[in-house]
Amino acid sequence: MDSIRREELLQKIEQAADMVQRRICIEPKIAIVCGSGLSQVLPTEDGVTITWDEIPHFPLSTVAGHCGEFWAGEISNHQVLIQRGRVHCYEGFTIDEVVFSVRMLALLGIKTLIITNAAGAINSDFVVGELVLITDHINFLGDNPLKGKNFDRLGPRFPDVSDAYSSRLRTLAKEVALSTKITLKEGVYIAVLGPSYETPAEIRAFRTIGADLVGMSTVPEVIAAAHAGIEVLGISCATNMAAGIDPQARLSHKEVIEVTKRKEKELGRLILGILQRLPVD
Ligand code: HPA
Repeated sequence: MDSIRREELLQKIEQAADMVQRRICIEPKIAIVCGSGLSQVLPTEDGVTITWDEIPHFPLSTVAGHCGEFWAGEISNHQVLIQRGRVHCYEGFTIDEVVFSVRMLALLGIKTLIITNAAGAINSDFVVGELVLITDHINFLGDNPLKGKNFDRLGPRFPDVSDAYSSRLRTLAKEVALSTKITLKEGVYIAVLGPSYETPAEIRAFRTIGADLVGMSTVPEVIAAAHAGIEVLGISCATNMAAGIDPQARLSHKEVIEVTKRKEKELGRLILGILQRLPVD
C-alpha cells in the first residue's frame, strides 16, 4: 500500500518537474529558496515566472508573506531558479508535501541549494536582524521526509547528513561576508512544528541541547536535499530574540516580516556575492 502511494507521489513530482522544465527553457544548477518576507531578496527582471498554482500537484501555501512562485533566469552568469515561498508542516501539509519542491528541484538537476528563513535567536550573542549561517540542525519535528519506501531514484536509504550544510559553501559565504562587511554569525538551527511560538521553558531546553536558532521550516527540505545529493547553504535572518530571552518582549509574525523586509537587501548582497564566487559550469 505504502509503496504504491510512494510510486504515485514520485510520478506527481516528475510531472511537476516536466512542466517546469518545459516552461523555463534553461537548465539551472542552482536554486534559492526565499523564506518569510524574503521573496524579493534578489532583483529578477528578465526571466520566466511560474506561479505554484500552474504546476501540477504542487502544494499551495496559505501563509501571508509566502507568495508562491518560481522565477527562472540568469544571475551573475548562472542559470538560477528562485523559489519564492515554501509550505510548512504547521499549515497541515504532510512532510512529503513540504519537500515536494526540493524533490522537484532534484529532478530538475539542481546541484546547489541556497535556503533562507526567518528564525528566532536563542543564542543571546545574536542581535535582531543579523544574518546567521546555519552550521547544523536539530530535527525536533518528530517526522522525517525520508520515512516510508525509499525513492532510490533520488538517493540512498540511509543518507549521511553530517555535512548537510556544506562546509565548502559556508567557507565561501564567510569570505563574501568579510569582503562585503556583512555581519554573518554561525549557529545550529532547531526545527519545531509551530505554529505557536515556543515557551521560554522550551527555549531554555533548546539552548541546553545546543540550538542557537529556532524556526518552523528548512530542516525537512535540507534532509530531502541531502538525500538527493544537493549541496546546501542555509542562511537565517534572526528576526527576533526567542521567547523568554528578553522577558518583556512579545513575539509576532508582523515583527518577523518587518525585520526580514529590512534585511532583504543585505541578504541579497550576500547571496549575489556567493553566486559571483561559485564557478559557472
Ligand atoms: N520561533 C519559531 N519560528 C520563528 C521564530 C521564533 O521565535 N521567529 C521566526 N520564526
